[in-house]
Amino acid sequence: MLIRDGAIQTVSSFAEDVRNGLGQSRQKELPSKYLYDDVGSALFEAITRLPEYGLTRAEERILRQHSDDIAEHLTAHGMVVELGSGSGQKTRQILEALAHHKSMTYCPIEISSSALVSCERELDDLAQVSILGFETEYLDGLSKAVARRKPGDAVLVLFLGSSIGNFDREPAEEFLRRIRQAIEPGDMLLLGTDLEKPLTQLIPAYDDSLGVTGTFNRNLLARINRELGGDFDLSRFQHVALYNARERRIEMHLRSTETQTVCIERANFTFLCDETIWTESCHKFGRNEPAEMAKRAGFKCVEQWVDVEWPFAENLLVAV
Ligand code: AVJ
Repeated sequence: MLIRDGAIQTVSSFAEDVRNGLGQSRQKELPSKYLYDDVGSALFEAITRLPEYGLTRAEERILRQHSDDIAEHLTAHGMVVELGSGSGQKTRQILEALAHHKSMTYCPIEISSSALVSCERELDDLAQVSILGFETEYLDGLSKAVARRKPGDAVLVLFLGSSIGNFDREPAEEFLRRIRQAIEPGDMLLLGTDLEKPLTQLIPAYDDSLGVTGTFNRNLLARINRELGGDFDLSRFQHVALYNARERRIEMHLRSTETQTVCIERANFTFLCDETIWTESCHKFGRNEPAEMAKRAGFKCVEQWVDVEWPFAENLLVAV
């Protein structure tokens, strides 16, 4: 069953967020969540297969190698809620390991309806697993899913792929606190975090030779054209991926290659030559940082697994 929610509100706030984000005279910016429409989610899937982007394969290796360890901690967990399921491919490992123990409910939370549909299709054959998807934002979906838990069922929340890296550090911790408030002591959170690594490894992951990440980034402007009647000329914006060492994050920007004016629904926005729109942040973590953050948010870290090839940590946290 698929529960769809919040779609109308998303449309109106997109227009508003674009107006605010591009209308300011300081650094222009757009919330990164708008990168992930149907086209953007498909392009992101492609990014995860690129040779330069080791993050997803690292997490898949960890989940493959340790799914039984993870499952050992989770015998009472009859409900798995995944924040941002994407296509659901890496989740299969965990669900298969858990479904050894008992039947369970899997609740993917997604703002992209096509990602939600392919996730349901991908995991459809797991006999012990019933799927209940929610097309809405993370915390709204989490509270709706948890409201349906059966007595005695503990909840496992999955927040994989270092999606937490999209948040600035303070809001990331606040987000963990909000997750903690939505669940109960003994419930768990499996949190994927991409670790700091040499720039020679990091930069190409966000500036790949095929230009898929640049296409993913520029799709945000194409989306404004499609949905809000904008007239962006995509060839006049260049993908930029830079490392902000002070904030320990990759920043994606779109750089205007000339001075130009863009019209969106009768409103004009001027871009100076070399002015950028900041579209996404991908924060990187020190090895102990996830556990420290989680502790301040009301979790205890019970295990951490780190991939050797691509520094990435999977953190298993219990709500205290
Ligand atoms: C979805 C936030 C985990 O930070 O690596 C990848 C996003 N953007 N390439 C990341 C992303 C461009 C990705 N996360």
